[in-house]
Amino acid sequence: MKIVLATRNRGKIEEIKELLKGCGFEMLTLDDFPGLALPPEDMRDFKGNALKKARSVASKTGIPSLADDSGLCVDALQGGPGVHSARYAGKGATDSDNYEKLLKELKNIPPGQRTARFVCVAALATPGGREKTFDGSLEGVIGNEPRGEYGFGYDPVFIVPGPGKTLAELSPEEKNMVSHRAKALGRLKDWLKKQMP
Ligand code: IMP
Repeated sequence: MKIVLATRNRGKIEEIKELLKGCGFEMLTLDDFPGLALPPEDMRDFKGNALKKARSVASKTGIPSLADDSGLCVDALQGGPGVHSARYAGKGATDSDNYEKLLKELKNIPPGQRTARFVCVAALATPGGREKTFDGSLEGVIGNEPRGEYGFGYDPVFIVPGPGKTLAELSPEEKNMVSHRAKALGRLKDWLKKQMP
């Protein structure tokens, strides 16, 4: 079955392709539909944005679509940057612009109050209007400086408590065993299995 991933984020695409390996999807990306624009992510929550992207891509391509809306929610910032994670340091911000801004904002926050979580909502939508969402989260703390070379986004500043390493210090395989995205897509896979006769 063909499915279009409703994202241009290379980091997400690599992880989703790996996490859904063996599910029988032929995964297309927006690169296969030049000129197709994603709708603005202007909803209040991850679920709203994920559904908006999946619905839009499914209706424009005529193929079922999977969207991922995700972000980092920091307790000391009352859940921010949350749905604004991708553009935290402004339009066109790079990953390092965003996490450097975060480190600056948290400069005076002591270790015990640097708790945060990554949240992911994966939305599946068909051109015929069927839709379903799955969520996952990962608890951690924000470090004092970036560490590690893997991953994308805020991975270099997000410390996973067990191993005490940032997500960017975990290999892609290790990140895919614990991440918010792995949990959301794990739920999607469980649901898919139940749909099979
Ligand atoms: P959006 O879902 O396109 O709005 O963008 C999500 C943003 O959240 C990304 O651009 C990253 O900055 C951040 N983000 C989401 N998931 C991850 C992750 O697994 N690691 C690091 N940053 C992430």
